[in-house]
Amino acid sequence: MRAYEMSAAAGLDSWKSVERPTPEPGRGQVLVRMRAASLNYRDLLICQGRYPFAINLDRLIPVSDGAGEIVALGEGVRRFQGGERVAGIFSQSWLGGAQVADTWQTALGGAIDGVLTEYQVFDEDGLVVLPDHLSFEEGATLPCAAVTAWNALYGLKPLRAGETVLTLGTGGVSVFAIQLAHAAGARVIATSSSDAKLAKARAFGANETINYRAHPDWEQEVHRLTGGTGVDHVVEVGGTGTLPRSIASTRPGGHVGLIGLLAQGEAIDPLAILGASCIVRGVAVGPREMFEDMNRSIALHGIKPVIDRVFGFEEAPTALAALAEASHVGKIVIRIG
Ligand SMILES: NC(=O)c1ccc[n+]([C@@H]2O[C@H](COP(=O)([O-])OP(=O)(O)OC[C@H]3O[C@@H](n4cnc5c(N)ncnc54)[C@H](OP(=O)(O)O)[C@@H]3O)[C@@H](O)[C@H]2O)c1
Repeated sequence: MRAYEMSAAAGLDSWKSVERPTPEPGRGQVLVRMRAASLNYRDLLICQGRYPFAINLDRLIPVSDGAGEIVALGEGVRRFQGGERVAGIFSQSWLGGAQVADTWQTALGGAIDGVLTEYQVFDEDGLVVLPDHLSFEEGATLPCAAVTAWNALYGLKPLRAGETVLTLGTGGVSVFAIQLAHAAGARVIATSSSDAKLAKARAFGANETINYRAHPDWEQEVHRLTGGTGVDHVVEVGGTGTLPRSIASTRPGGHVGLIGLLAQGEAIDPLAILGASCIVRGVAVGPREMFEDMNRSIALHGIKPVIDRVFGFEEAPTALAALAEASHVGKIVIRIG
């Protein structure tokens, strides 16, 4: 089979195309013919040697998010049948409930092999069934980006209709957050560097938009739009570079889902959190249980993931370069096979 692997963080040249033997499923495992993978900012961080969590670069098959069909079953498999359309869960050990201690040690495309390959073996517990209305390309976008957005909105302080959600930028996590919050009947305020991207954000659910380049003090715009109250939830993908303004945008008792590290800034003053009386919670994607809850909602509302571009398998390094360029809205996908 054809696959990509990486043994060093060599920037955009990290992924090498290789031939490998097709794996065979052992007891309790299934063999999945991968049909599509989608990229996350994490894949770039790993290639740049900037990823802060566990990785194993010993001929690592990169990329966490993928979808495909089951083509062989190991002995004793009970959850699946041949031919089912599935996606891998981000952390193979976190199935439900409180976060497990080895969340990052079992994460696809980081500490263990990922999905940028024609075939991959998974434990049957490490998969979910794709919503029927989604293609493989669409289904491949869900495991990290969409589950992270879902966890930020529902993991601790479940979003309620009529509440206000602030999203930052128009990358993968944020666009899912816009779509999921819109489907929940929430009001969405979306930010972006670009008016053209904001027009797209409005088309799939943002009620109000702020260009953070035109409004560097964008928390003031958030307060203007919320009558001085602030928002109920922030889907915080920026990190230290945006967190002080996100906290300042939050109403007392509101929730900041701390997700990303797109923007560099100074250390955070804890008094800002105290002053805002808000909850700042780290989000580590989410368990299989959340993925299944989210899929039910995605199916019910007929939500279609926003795919910016689809690349061929041979073009995977070009797809990674496109992610680095950051001109996309939503997800970048690689078709496999
Ligand atoms: N903790 C977790 O479990 C978890 C899970 C998934 C992702 N993440 C992290 O979340 C972040 C987003 O991931 P992703 O895959 O969605 O990224 P992505 O698709 O690559 O998103 C990139 C976009 O983010 C926006 N952006 C960049 N700098 C920004 C800033 N200073 N303020 C606001 N927006 C900014 C830009 O959109 P505009 O041009 O529209 O502004 C850019 O195009 C990354 O740091 C990633 O590592 C964490």
